[in-house]
Amino acid sequence: MKKERILVTGGTGYIGSHTVVELQNAGYSVVIIDNLSNSNRNVLDGIERITNIRPDFVEADCCDITALTALFKQYPDIKGIINFAASKAVGESIEKPLLYYRNNLNSLMNLLDLMPQYGVKGIVFSSSCTVYGEPDENPVTEAAPIKTATSPYGNTKQICEEIIHDVVRSGAPIKSVILRYFNPVGAHPSAEIGELPNGVPQNLIPYLTQTAIGIRKELSVFGDDYNTPDGSCIRDFINVVDLAKAHVIAVERMLQDKSLEQVETFNLGTGIGLSVKELIAAFERATGVNVPHKIVGRRPGDIEKVWANPKYANEVLGWEATASIDDTMRSAWAWQCRLRERGIM
Ligand code: NAD
Ligand code: WQD
Repeated sequence: MKKERILVTGGTGYIGSHTVVELQNAGYSVVIIDNLSNSNRNVLDGIERITNIRPDFVEADCCDITALTALFKQYPDIKGIINFAASKAVGESIEKPLLYYRNNLNSLMNLLDLMPQYGVKGIVFSSSCTVYGEPDENPVTEAAPIKTATSPYGNTKQICEEIIHDVVRSGAPIKSVILRYFNPVGAHPSAEIGELPNGVPQNLIPYLTQTAIGIRKELSVFGDDYNTPDGSCIRDFINVVDLAKAHVIAVERMLQDKSLEQVETFNLGTGIGLSVKELIAAFERATGVNVPHKIVGRRPGDIEKVWANPKYANEVLGWEATASIDDTMRSAWAWQCRLRERGIM
């Protein structure tokens, strides 16, 4: 049986494309809106190759309320939204704060504005463990205090969460699930879709795989003098397909009115903290490929250690991260090799 239609904003992006695959696999109809500011139309081909279904696609900007209104008129059957559309580069947000506030806040506010008018019941919002800053304790639960944001990007996530709460408190007839992702990594096992960073990657895994394939000379490990067992930072690396599956469950929960609160917030992580050095070792073990690397100074603004307590998501959503780090590393490598085969990088 065909399930409801879901609007996926930012659906040609990294996490969005993996989520569209899982939504279609679960029987949902999808329409994507993306302005292609950080993704490529070819991603639709990858999604189609995996699922045999080409999602409907509207090239438009979520900040453009006229275009969004036209989309809701064209697809009156949209019942839920997953809002991935946002600018996400921490460094760029420090240089161009207004771009980040404008894009990330206006996109969300436009959607919230139009939802009741077009009978859309719920919205899943992509938030981040960045809201916890340097946590007082690990693993981090959803009850941990929100720390002052260290970048405009991080601040947009905090403000967007508050906007959702305020709109619901005002009596809007909508539900929301806020998902705080830890560090999403890896690619679809088919290597048909994955992460496509623009320019020199700022994040660990794309820099690592680009080094392994020879695009970059060596990976810099930012600091080994942290208060951690091997001195390098610790993160919770969550497989992107596992992450995508959580969105399908969240959508189902909103649309079937299973959620108890109008706004629910979940941490999405594995519950396992891995250090940067351990991650490099895992990649080398899983793929047999060497990663030239050297220790350099700390990167300003980095958190020393953060990993999730995913118990609430495990128990209430009934979701659990299942991919092994070795499989995740192999998927990241297969994707990097596919990009090379296709002459993309
Ligand atoms: P991405 O850049 O790959 O995907 C975002 C997509 O949104 C892109 O395709 C981009 O073109 C599109 N987009 C941006 N602004 C838009 C707008 N105004 N209108 C229409 N489309 C727009 O990023 P991602 O890694 O897939 O992240 C998805 C979401 O998850 C973002 O909200 C991000 O902040 C959040 N998040 C990401 C991470 C991570 O490490 N990747 C961690 C936590 C949270
Ligand atoms: C991970 C670790 C680096 C690159 C960022 C955002 C966060 C969230 C996820 C969206 C750190 C180290 C990295 C390199 C390295 N995004 N590293 N050499 O900083 O945990 O989180 O992405 O919400 O908001 O801040 O991810 O992948 O950049 O770094 O040693 O070349 O790898 O120091 O310890 P981060 P990352």
